[in-house]
Formats: sequence, structure tokens, C-alpha cells
Amino acid sequence: MHLIRRKGWEIPEREATPEALFLNRRAVLGAGVGSILAGVAPAMAAEEPDPSAGLYPAKHNDAFTLDRELTPEKINSQYNNFYEFGTQKKVFTAVDSLKIRPWTIKVDGMVEKAREIGIDDLLKTMPLEERLYRHRCVEAWSMTIPWTGFPLKALIDAARPLSSAKYVRFETFLDPKMAPGQKQSWYPWPYVEGLTMAEATNDLTMLVTGAYGKPLARQFGAPIRLHVPWKYGFKSIKSITRISFVDEQPKNFWQSLQSSEYGFWANVNPEVPHPRWSQATEEVIGTSTRRPTLLYNGYAEQVAGIYKGMEGQKIYF
Ligand code: MTE
Repeated sequence: MHLIRRKGWEIPEREATPEALFLNRRAVLGAGVGSILAGVAPAMAAEEPDPSAGLYPAKHNDAFTLDRELTPEKINSQYNNFYEFGTQKKVFTAVDSLKIRPWTIKVDGMVEKAREIGIDDLLKTMPLEERLYRHRCVEAWSMTIPWTGFPLKALIDAARPLSSAKYVRFETFLDPKMAPGQKQSWYPWPYVEGLTMAEATNDLTMLVTGAYGKPLARQFGAPIRLHVPWKYGFKSIKSITRISFVDEQPKNFWQSLQSSEYGFWANVNPEVPHPRWSQATEEVIGTSTRRPTLLYNGYAEQVAGIYKGMEGQKIYF
């Protein structure tokens, strides 16, 4: 019997995207956009003020420009993949149960000294900045986002990994009471991801703590998530609680679930289809258009060198 397990994030986008999103298009271009868009988020439940709110908006880094319009905050924050809170795109109210303070991140494995650090102590020591990034999901849709955060390399330098460390492994919290999706035992919780040291220390690889000029909203993976813009979005793990330096390639969440369809590398390539659909074009969420997908999601100049000599390996899978 040939059984295909279809995940929620694989349904065609014309079915998944509410019509209102297509009708509610708002185009904003240029620098400092995070703070301009800050006022348009959907109303959230009343809550304690975020202790890191004073750090935003952070300085905008002009080096990161886009070739397309910025996705409005209202659209981006109602179209998310966060399986801990459900398999549908609209998790923005379900995530209210995600408790983001206190929040500690364990840094361990092959490091000079393992440690645990509270998110607010970490934020005080890291060089926060705003960057505009493209985000390409393996489901063949894309968005653009003004992230605030810092290069993962800054944390790695502070952690002082041993030379024996070959990979960085990331883990999301595990708490089925807080995140009902984690009660679904057929998923390999907690969500795990991994990068090679070369990928992790590339300047593009960002630990994200804010978006649209404010602390990260829960549905984006508050209080801290990864963004690796040249890879399919599933590599960008949300709500990280543990960062470990290891010498074996970590097996990620989707790979553990369906290794015939999802691999470790997941570099964006329009010419390498997913086993069940083409990756040649992508739907630009918030618009009714598709556009051609770019090799490494348009970041080839910065990252192609990482994979020199690896031709023949499945680096797009
Ligand atoms: N991280 C966790 N912990 N849980 C998830 O379900 N989904 C991934 C990734 N990180 C996911 C996750 C997928 S499939 C994508 S496309 C992106 O997050 C979505 O990020 P966004 O909601 O900010 O667009």
C-alpha cells in the first residue's frame, strides 16, 4: 500500500489562504519599516508588558535589501506554521498559552563551559539590529519580514565551542500542557533542527527576537527563533530552549517524521522539486501572484561557497 501522510502545511495555498488576506494588500518599502508597520497587528490578548520592549525598534541595517514588497504585519502574523499550537495557519490566538517569561536557553555539548542564560540577560549582551529577509517555505509560498535579532555567530563566539564540534543542534520547548499540538504523539516532539558550523557562523544566520520593530509575537516563535534565509522555512526553528554543539549531524523534526521527503540540508533550489510538487515558483503571500523561486532563495552570493566540493550530495533535500 502506498500511503501519503499529508501535513497541514502541504495543502494548496489557494485553499489555505483566507480571501481577506488577498484583499488586504498593503505595500511598504524601504528602511525602518518595522516601526512603521508596528501599528497594524491583530489585537492580542491583554498581557504583561514585554520586559525587552525598550530594545525595539533596533538600528536598521541597510545592507539587507529586498527585491519585492514587504509583507504587511497583519498578513504575516496570521499565516504561520507552528505545529505545537495546531496544524492550521491561523495559530495567532492559540499561541496565547505560550509562556515566554521566564525563558532560559541552555547552551551545552562541545563547549568550553555549558551554561544556561535567561533571554533578557542574553539580549543585553547581543548586538540587536533590524534586517529585511526573504522567507521561503517548502510548501512553495514566500513572505518578506523585517526581523530584529543578532547573528548566531555572536552567540557561538561567546559560547566558545570546542574544535571537535561539527554541528549546532537546536531544540524547542517540550510542554504538552502549554502547547496542545505536542499531545499529538505521532509527531517526534520536541521540534529539533541542525546546521553545520559553517552554516551556523555565516553572517546571514540570525537568531531572531523581534519583528516589525517590536519583541517577537508568539506566533513567530517568541521569545527567540532561528532564521536561515537561504533554506526552506522548516529549518528556522521557533521558541528555542536549547542550543548544543555536537559532532554528529542532528536529525530534524520533519526528517524524523518523513525522511523520504525532508532532509538535513533543505537549501532552496527551483530546479529540485519536492517529491510531490515543483519548487520552480512560489506564491507570494498577501498578493495574488507567483514569482520564480531563486537559487538559495536569492542569497547564493553569500552562501554558495559553503557547499563547494559537495556537488553530488543531496544539499537541496
Ligand atoms: N518551529 C517550531 N518549533 N514548530 C514549527 O511548527 N514550523 C517551521 C518553522 N519553525 C515550525 C518551526 C516551518 S514549516 C516554517 S515554514 C516556519 O517555521 C514558519 O515561520 P513563520 O510562521 O514565522 O512564517
